[in-house]
Amino acid sequence: MKAENRFSVSPEETEKQKEYTHLAGELLETKYGGRPLAFIHTYGCQGNVSDSEYLKGMLEEIGYGFTEKLEEADLILYNTCAIREHAEDRVFGNVGALKNLKMQKRGMRIALCGCMMQQPRIAEKIRKSYPFVDIVFGTHVMHRLPEIIYRSLSTGKKVFEIPDSDGVVPEGMPVKRDSGFKAWLPIMYGCNNFCSYCIVPYVKGRERSRDPEIILREARQLVSEGYKEITLLGQNINSYGREPDYGYDFPRLLREINDIPGDFIIRFMTSHPKDCSAELLDTMASCEKVAKHLHLPFQSGCDRVLKAMNRGYTAEKYLSLIDYAYKVMPDLSITADVIVGFPGETYEEFTQTVDLVKKAGFTSMFTFIYSPREGTKAAEMDDPVSAEEKGKWFRELLAVQEQIAAERTAGSVGRTFRVLCEREGKNGVLLRPVKIEVEARRRFVPNHADILPGVCGKAYRTAFRRTI
Ligand code: 5AD
Ligand code: SF4
Repeated sequence: MKAENRFSVSPEETEKQKEYTHLAGELLETKYGGRPLAFIHTYGCQGNVSDSEYLKGMLEEIGYGFTEKLEEADLILYNTCAIREHAEDRVFGNVGALKNLKMQKRGMRIALCGCMMQQPRIAEKIRKSYPFVDIVFGTHVMHRLPEIIYRSLSTGKKVFEIPDSDGVVPEGMPVKRDSGFKAWLPIMYGCNNFCSYCIVPYVKGRERSRDPEIILREARQLVSEGYKEITLLGQNINSYGREPDYGYDFPRLLREINDIPGDFIIRFMTSHPKDCSAELLDTMASCEKVAKHLHLPFQSGCDRVLKAMNRGYTAEKYLSLIDYAYKVMPDLSITADVIVGFPGETYEEFTQTVDLVKKAGFTSMFTFIYSPREGTKAAEMDDPVSAEEKGKWFRELLAVQEQIAAERTAGSVGRTFRVLCEREGKNGVLLRPVKIEVEARRRFVPNHADILPGVCGKAYRTAFRRTI
């Protein structure tokens, strides 16, 4: 059993939020009558998608229904992302567009939350330039949504709740899942790595693991409810259980979830090469329910750049790690993230990234042009290469990877995979073997991390439909 978790939300706090749920529900009845509707939009990563499912769970418990139409909504909630400037620009654009709607609909509330809001400069900008926004809350108070809604409804005043904190481990929140057969299961929050380009450690707080007993209980529950795919989430998932005296590490957790009886698939993300151990790879290989997929961002193939990024490994170490992974799991799909145009990166250094990509044989790769994030170390570094030049490098890298992915996909033709079908088949099963018989064309090149031998995603599903 793990030691006391200094990040845990106290039972008293959880109780308090239950009371606010009740109080906010009563206010909703008197203010709106009927069932007011909430529109939720999520930007960014799977962590945010999962958080939004909890936000929806809390809103549903208060008494909100949901709509996909902005103009029908009594509450609009944007769960935002801060990872790149582009993500932030989209949020500002979309929030700006709500001004007229808000003027037309009295009583409508506009709320913003998530990573972008955890940055003081952003909250300030919202306060000054977007006065029609009613509620702003940061990443560490998500579990207090009932209280936040209650305060907004009862006072009619703005609620800005963005405490600076190392983070919390919220438990006991209701959840409204988007899917009936695929589930996110957060196992840890935050990040301690401080990669020099990344804003995440500043907005998500320190690494903190959830109690393994709670995770295992939730996993069992999901399996018993018929979920077929469980994706374990953590910013830096290989560090699970690093806290002193935890007694659990990630391979052990994976083995115990694998031991839960039932027909389901386990995925996890995101792994960090510096913490991805041979033990973890051996565990993946030996756990029959763990999808043979590893998302292992490498970010750069150049050792100087990797050092400047504070990544803690070399290109050679990364390649030897994936060599071992392919050795113990010959059918493994590896996907990765890479950044093009890190400050000071030269073309010659970029070609080392291209070389790594050629050697690695990724099924799919997520390529990003470096975006400066205020407050990070990299944002202070000289960045002489133009955006146009970085764009060229970006396209060059994409072309190389597309070719590699096409070759890999072509290798699937004629082979049989177990696939997760999104709709039930004639005999009512979701998981079944399917032979990939169509020619692998470019549009079947996997473009999403969940397209993998072992379980199939959109591209193979497309192929699958065409073969019937
Ligand atoms: N600029 C560009 N890409 C970034 N990422 C993180 N921070 C930045 C940034 N400032 C990318 C990394 C990470 C992925 C989630 O986003 O590749 O793995
Ligand atoms: Fe950001 Fe690095 Fe942490 Fe990933 S490991 S969230 S890239 S700081």
